Amino acid sequence: MSKHVYLKTYGCQMNLNDSERMLGMLAQMGYQPTNDAFSADFLLLNTCAIREKAEDKLFSRLGELKEIKHLKPGVLIGVAGCVAQHMGERIRTRAPYVDLVFGTENIHELPELVARVERSLEPVVSIMPFSDELPPEMPVLRQGRHSAWITAIYGCNDRCTYCIVPSVRGDQKSRAIADIVQEVKRVVAEGFSEVVLLGQNINGYGKDLTPKSSLADLIEAVAIIPGVKRVRWLTGHPRDLDEELLLRIKGYPNVCDYFHIPIQHGDSDILRQMARGYTREKYLKLVSLIRSHFPEAGISTDLIVGFPSETEEQFQQTLAIVREVRFAAVNTAAYSARPGTYAATRADQVPEAVKDRRLRELNEVVNEVAASVSRAMVGTVQEVMVEGPSPRNPHVLQGRCRNNRIVLFTGPAQLEGQLCQLRITEARAWTLRGELASG
Ligand code: SAH
Ligand code: SF4
Ligand code: F3S
Repeated sequence: MSKHVYLKTYGCQMNLNDSERMLGMLAQMGYQPTNDAFSADFLLLNTCAIREKAEDKLFSRLGELKEIKHLKPGVLIGVAGCVAQHMGERIRTRAPYVDLVFGTENIHELPELVARVERSLEPVVSIMPFSDELPPEMPVLRQGRHSAWITAIYGCNDRCTYCIVPSVRGDQKSRAIADIVQEVKRVVAEGFSEVVLLGQNINGYGKDLTPKSSLADLIEAVAIIPGVKRVRWLTGHPRDLDEELLLRIKGYPNVCDYFHIPIQHGDSDILRQMARGYTREKYLKLVSLIRSHFPEAGISTDLIVGFPSETEEQFQQTLAIVREVRFAAVNTAAYSARPGTYAATRADQVPEAVKDRRLRELNEVVNEVAASVSRAMVGTVQEVMVEGPSPRNPHVLQGRCRNNRIVLFTGPAQLEGQLCQLRITEARAWTLRGELASG
């Protein structure tokens, strides 16, 4: 009888891709994935440490899983990912019923670690220090139907003063282009049509390789692979995005003009305190440059409110930049002090109530701008990658425009995984409605 694993992932695409590798290895050990925690033999949480709230979520979910273990004593509970890397043994201090804790640097050891727990029934905590070497290739059980995430860079070389990622993911390690190309060829052979290249600063791709390489080199190498209908990449860093990239990707019709370039704040002084390496003005220039080459480009971003010492005027700069750039989408967050970061040591923290209010105000502006970006698309014809039935309504198909907007439409199921032309008929803040364009 096959065993089942319930794997819940928190955090970014990087973590989702790690989870696909965990599922790949677990499948080889006879564990099939399930969405039902009650029917699982192994309950595994792949965690995110980016904000304190994300950590709290982990412990409240663990409390629920403990109840399941109480009813089914043989069940294993595991914690992986960024909180595991960060807290290690301390996870078991707070939740002693956890059987397995492993970090971001030894994901490939999962089969061995699970076997150890199964054999001894003793808890195992295994956190590795970061090494200069890339992890070995692992089997991947992909969760997307047509879109495949491909990690291009592990870790991050930046030290933004608010961010915990470098301490839970280590320094930047780019994979060689040849290895990435090989993986892309493999996913195309499996039937995937879209590739999303992942890195914390994907614009810094290849700077750590000898000889040096670049994101433009990587995108070109991937875009020419037969069967790749679309290429996207996440997450960009404004400091490292240059005109050379724009010029070089322009000629490839399967390379999307979608740019996720987190600005984090609208005020240059706060940006300096965050150690982001650019000013508001430089960012605005970059946006103009992108739009001069790709007038229809989708530009999205991340923004933090309530960084230490943020004044009302500085916060207004953040609101203003959302309107000025007309971001298609924004991930917004209230600043959360993370252990081990410089910003967390500052005495001039912004009160929670102020942060909450600013976040609400920012979200209002973000929604208003996003809706107007969507409305401007009504009447246009868009190239859409059809992803499959909408998760909310299986009778309707869901696809993604080149600028990353989701569009719902009615059409034949055979369109799944294909590109098609849709006329946008209606805009609903974040999603569009469309119909197949004739001709
Ligand atoms: N590498 C990406 C960001 C990865 S973390 C970049 O450089 O842009 C994803 C997002 O989480 C960040 O863009 C930021 O907006 C948010 N974030 C990171 N640390 C945070 C913190 N301490 N408090 C609140 N939000 C944070
Ligand atoms: Fe964090 Fe900055 Fe690295 Fe992004 S670039 S992961 S925000 S340290
Ligand atoms: Fe979170 Fe780790 Fe990603 S902290 S955002 S899951 S790299």
